[in-house]
Amino acid sequence: MILIDGKKAAAELREELRKEVVELKNKHNKVPGLTVILIGDLTPSQIYVRNKEKSAKEVGLKSEVIKYPDSVEEKVILDKIDELNKDDTVSGILVQLPLPKHIDKQKIIEAINPSKDVDGFHPMNVGNLSSGYESSVPCTPLGCYLLIKKIEPNLSGKKAVIIGRSNLNGKPMTQLLLKENCTVTITHSRTKDLKAECLEADILVAAVGIPELVKEDWVKKDAIVIDVGINKTDKGIVGDVAFDEVSKSARAITPVPGGVGPMTIACLLKNTVECFKRSQL
Ligand code: GUN
Repeated sequence: MILIDGKKAAAELREELRKEVVELKNKHNKVPGLTVILIGDLTPSQIYVRNKEKSAKEVGLKSEVIKYPDSVEEKVILDKIDELNKDDTVSGILVQLPLPKHIDKQKIIEAINPSKDVDGFHPMNVGNLSSGYESSVPCTPLGCYLLIKKIEPNLSGKKAVIIGRSNLNGKPMTQLLLKENCTVTITHSRTKDLKAECLEADILVAAVGIPELVKEDWVKKDAIVIDVGINKTDKGIVGDVAFDEVSKSARAITPVPGGVGPMTIACLLKNTVECFKRSQL
């Protein structure tokens, strides 16, 4: 069994990006810039944003975090996004989710210039990804994809089963695996026999937010299992996969923590560098 080391893969990706940023700086006399907007004081969001800032600085990006209180008006955020859209030193803009209830998430996402949308959430990027054109790709599925490719470079004809149909994970993951010529099944809360579907998978991606849902007898021997779940339980943080059981039969599996999580942030940096490069063409 291969334990997929997301921390190591993320460190390798950051190192590649650090070298690339040095080259870009030499070539263009400027570095890619990432601006994160954080609204309110939710602890998980604060931790994510702090980690994003730290990693961005580590690879040499210009990094800025703009914080607003929970009570900020939507118009203030829309005006700031407009300003950042026009700012040449900003290559990528990320508005940390979730947002306070009085702010319209879709309006915020659509205000970001698609060429600076490092989350890949703008409908233009969603459409480009599903049409197979160049686009920003949401960071978590991109991280999963890179981990899968490290284990199995040729995915053509493989059966992939995804648990979860969110815009953040399940749907973009589907597009990435389709592009690799996988046969993809998307499952969700209304799927009739989830276990039977999972048993078909050469590649199983669990992104549903149910602690240890996937059991050993749900997984084909030699499957690659990617666990996107981060669930707080009495036992601490666990994934959507019962790791101790499933790791006995899987070909390869990501742990939680230390699997997909570290790759998500590294992919945000990758997206920022990609947005910068496209803006310099
Ligand atoms: N909150 C949790 N994950 C994400 C993400 O990938 N992007 C943004 N913008 N907010 C998040």
